[in-house]
Amino acid sequence: MSLPALDVHLTADDADAALRSDARRGLTSTPKILTPQWLYDARGSELFEQITALPEYYPFTAEREALAAHSDAIARTADADTLVELGSGSSSKTPVLLDALHSAGTLRRYVPVDVSPSALEEAVPGLIGAYPELDVHAVVADFTSDLRSVPRDGGRRLVALLGGTFGNFEPADRQTFLAALADALEPGEAFLVGTDLAKDESTLVAAYDDSQGVTAEFNLNVLSVLNRVLGADFDRSGFEHLAVWVPQSSRIEMRLRARRAMHVRVPELDLEIDFRAGEEMRTEISTKFTRERIRDELGVAGFSHDGWFTDPQGRFALSVAVRR
Ligand code: AVJ
Repeated sequence: MSLPALDVHLTADDADAALRSDARRGLTSTPKILTPQWLYDARGSELFEQITALPEYYPFTAEREALAAHSDAIARTADADTLVELGSGSSSKTPVLLDALHSAGTLRRYVPVDVSPSALEEAVPGLIGAYPELDVHAVVADFTSDLRSVPRDGGRRLVALLGGTFGNFEPADRQTFLAALADALEPGEAFLVGTDLAKDESTLVAAYDDSQGVTAEFNLNVLSVLNRVLGADFDRSGFEHLAVWVPQSSRIEMRLRARRAMHVRVPELDLEIDFRAGEEMRTEISTKFTRERIRDELGVAGFSHDGWFTDPQGRFALSVAVRR
């Protein structure tokens, strides 16, 4: 289905080229690193949906509880007429926010931004049907490098980054993103960011290494993606899923560990790489925050920390930050 308003700032060729250059850099660096976007092909997205339903994977439920309990307070703090949602994906949590902004009286426009045109084409028609008065303007873009999706149109914007995606960035990349966002916003406009919170190691590790093995399958699927997209010959059975808590950087790292020495060809990148037995390749980081850390990172970029809303159990936080 085509959408009434869709801006494309990122073509399939752009996305493909960016992924290839990330893969080349990551597979030739020490230690080897893959960027997390490789995890989310159609199969990976389906596995992630399954992860959100696992008893051990609390961040999804906790964020939903926090939104349900506090969306009205969030809407009052943000006082916005435009919701810009970065990485909107299936927009599954969006209606709670739209309803709250609508009750607060000012909602006019929704701008979902995602790298995946198919995700937007699937999610947006339902929202248009449910909110007929809303001006919905979808944007295909990689918000980590491109914030043109946050247009200055005279309204007051609330930019949301939900799901804990903020925690997938390295600290330096978080700071670069926040600085670019501060630059794109006018004083008084707001940023809503969802972050998982630091807690005991066993809860965290279980959330990323579930007993049914769904997260292991999600992680190993990245090798199938590289095989399909880049013509590589990774042998999945030669790798094992790891979820490691790294306290110094307060984050969970998903890694794939080589069970034996392997030589892998990546023809599309004209590359051959070697794994030592036991070598670990990082596939994702998921940072776990404290209130102080969020306030400090926002503060450095020019935001004040005006709202802090958690689920009843205090596992996950939604922060409202206002551009100073
Ligand atoms: C959707 C990226 C926030 O980091 O918790 C779930 C992805 N990885 N299980 C997260 C994920 C392994 C998730 N994010």
